[in-house]
Amino acid sequence: MLNKTVIVTGGNSGIGKESVLALCKMGANVVIACRETAYGNEKPVAEVIGEIERLVPGAQLSFLPLDLASLASIRNFAALFTKRHAQLDVLLNNAGVLSMERKQTRDGFELTMGTNHLGPFLLTNLLLEHLVSTPNSRIVNVASKAHSNGKLVFANNTIETRWPYTGLSAYADSKLANIYFTQELAERLAGTDTTVNALHPGGVATNIWPDPGGIMGIIKRRMIKNLNAPEKGARTSVYLCSSPETQNVSGKYFHKNKPLLPSSRARDKSIQKKLWQVSVVATGLESTLF
Ligand SMILES: NC(=O)c1ccc[n+]([C@@H]2O[C@H](COP(=O)([O-])OP(=O)(O)OC[C@H]3O[C@@H](n4cnc5c(N)ncnc54)[C@H](OP(=O)(O)O)[C@@H]3O)[C@@H](O)[C@H]2O)c1
Repeated sequence: MLNKTVIVTGGNSGIGKESVLALCKMGANVVIACRETAYGNEKPVAEVIGEIERLVPGAQLSFLPLDLASLASIRNFAALFTKRHAQLDVLLNNAGVLSMERKQTRDGFELTMGTNHLGPFLLTNLLLEHLVSTPNSRIVNVASKAHSNGKLVFANNTIETRWPYTGLSAYADSKLANIYFTQELAERLAGTDTTVNALHPGGVATNIWPDPGGIMGIIKRRMIKNLNAPEKGARTSVYLCSSPETQNVSGKYFHKNKPLLPSSRARDKSIQKKLWQVSVVATGLESTLF
């Protein structure tokens, strides 16, 4: 990964932080894209950078602020990144949220769909020119097996939040959107040497699991102890970002470094195409490169 520039969204915590560490060890120039004052994570990003620099002396690591729950922040990030960097070899769309309460982004989208799908959709499209002009570039989307419980419903050309709201169904819907986005973008990128793939990292002990407190909180903490460590959870992300084996693979869904078939609903092309159109309108994307 020497001389390769990589963006890792949510690189300050959990699977993202371990991905950053592994990519730094491989010699990549890594840009952590996250909120400056972490919300889910107890550590500010400066502290995380210090930790990684101690583990990888000479690491090429920097930070640029990005809030995926704000279209303005995403536009600022893309403008700043493209001004500072001539190339983008890998975009690792890792950041994600699971909110048990129904909340909204700054632009009025349901928080989970806004952060996990609409934000990365806009970010990727704004960075696409940079990606396509960099030889053999890759986009890697961290989805989840939870996508198989998802279902997208549209109303008046917007993505409808299923009723009654539950954190798990909103999360499943957003992860299903990650798979549709990956497949549709791969079709649009056919004929270029930029690839896009999605993955399930496994069940991983990270801050994403909400703590409901009380007895349920005790159960949650016990359950988390049986999950994989973040280092293991990062392996498929790192593999898709760096392995020569996947250089020419695009539009696939991986788990444990192997392609898997996503759910049958995730393979519905009409929903895949509808989601793209609706996402363009929702994010105010002026034009798409492909
Ligand atoms: N853990 C699992 O078992 C599991 C299973 C399947 C898929 N995944 C996926 O893996 C990815 C990484 O999650 P994780 O498990 O490593 O959880 P995590 O430790 O909570 O990391 C999530 C990251 O996303 C960032 N993030 C959340 N909202 C954001 C926003 N509005 N703008 C920018 N960054 C934001 C968080 O930043 P803050 O620190 O500022 O909140 C954090 O860095 C997610 O996409 C998740 O859906 C996880």
